[in-house]
Amino acid sequence: MTALRLEHVDKSFGQVKVLHDISLTVEDGEFVVFVGPSGCGKSTLLRVIAGLEDATAGRVSIAGEEVTHVPPAKRGIAMVFQTYALYPHLSVRDNMALGLKQEGAPRATVEAQVAKASHMLSLDDYLKRRPAELSGGQRQRVAIGRAIVRDPKLFLFDEPLSNLDAALRMNTRVEIAALHRTLSASMIYVTHDQIEAMTLADKIVVLRDGRIEQVGAPMDLYNDPANRFVAGFLGSPAMNFLERSVAGLPEGVTLGIRPEYLRPAPTGRIGGTVTHVERLGSDTNLLVETSQGERLTLRMFGQDQTPVGAPVTLDWDDADAFFFDATGRRLTGADQPSVPAA
Ligand SMILES: Nc1ncnc2c1ncn2[C@@H]1O[C@H](COP(=O)(O)OP(=O)(O)OP(=O)(O)O)[C@@H](O)[C@H]1O
Ligand SMILES: [Mg+2]
Repeated sequence: MTALRLEHVDKSFGQVKVLHDISLTVEDGEFVVFVGPSGCGKSTLLRVIAGLEDATAGRVSIAGEEVTHVPPAKRGIAMVFQTYALYPHLSVRDNMALGLKQEGAPRATVEAQVAKASHMLSLDDYLKRRPAELSGGQRQRVAIGRAIVRDPKLFLFDEPLSNLDAALRMNTRVEIAALHRTLSASMIYVTHDQIEAMTLADKIVVLRDGRIEQVGAPMDLYNDPANRFVAGFLGSPAMNFLERSVAGLPEGVTLGIRPEYLRPAPTGRIGGTVTHVERLGSDTNLLVETSQGERLTLRMFGQDQTPVGAPVTLDWDDADAFFFDATGRRLTGADQPSVPAA
């Protein structure tokens, strides 16, 4: 079955249109991530799915039923927000139980569901505490628990990890992935963090300015981006884009090359100077300014000793190069130019 179907959804606030003709399906059990820069419409789209905002046009269906005009509580969804929005005066147990109680679920069901969620999220030792007595990560687990107890047809997450520090973000990310496997539930997860998108998603939806740029499995988007925006958005450090630094590149065409695919080579096709070095231990990033004044990043495995100011020549394998036309569209197959060797 299809967990979610969006058909030609538009959303305007007054005169301002923020979602344009969004069509999308989420299959049963799929983990779908909406990713894109701030203001691109991720939260608005999630809120339209939840019913917290009305679509201006188009249709929303959940689990095979049209819900475009159905109120949020009747859509069979549960939403987890960036701010946990827990009730401060209620215990962890009561925070998790509240939604079910309000829906009039039998006491035994409430208890069983809370016990299941609490066990799954390792919250058993904290059930009597209040939110103020928990760490940020524990609070976010309670917020997730509150969603789990309702056994929703569709989970909606809006940047649930962005209030957590880096280490906790990674742990919680792994927990959410494990949770998805355990529950085999359909989940939609909003983030502007491309690492979360790459690591969690079965399917990524890249949004820009209220439009879908591309939909696909993480590695398909990474290896086969439809355009310059997607190519530049996924990957860290980001893909390099060069127009002037490579001899033989046709007018209006941009070469895209990922930092890990560039390598120092005595007769490379790009010349420049190292302007900054980032030593990460596991990797070394060299920031290079080319002889033509463009900047790029080169990622080396391990601990490289190249000093700032060093001259470098760089090259790449032709199979690793991407090309984009002046509108940002990716050039593939016979449309790709060949850049002669130095
Ligand atoms: N209630 C509203 N009234 C008017 N404009 C709104 C409203 N809510 C959102 N917008 C506008 O809609 C656009 C999309 O906002 P949205 O919150 O969906 O972005 P986002 O992708 O979630 O961004 P972020 O990553 O910063 O959370 C923005 O330009 C925003 O200003
Ligand atoms: Mg948002």
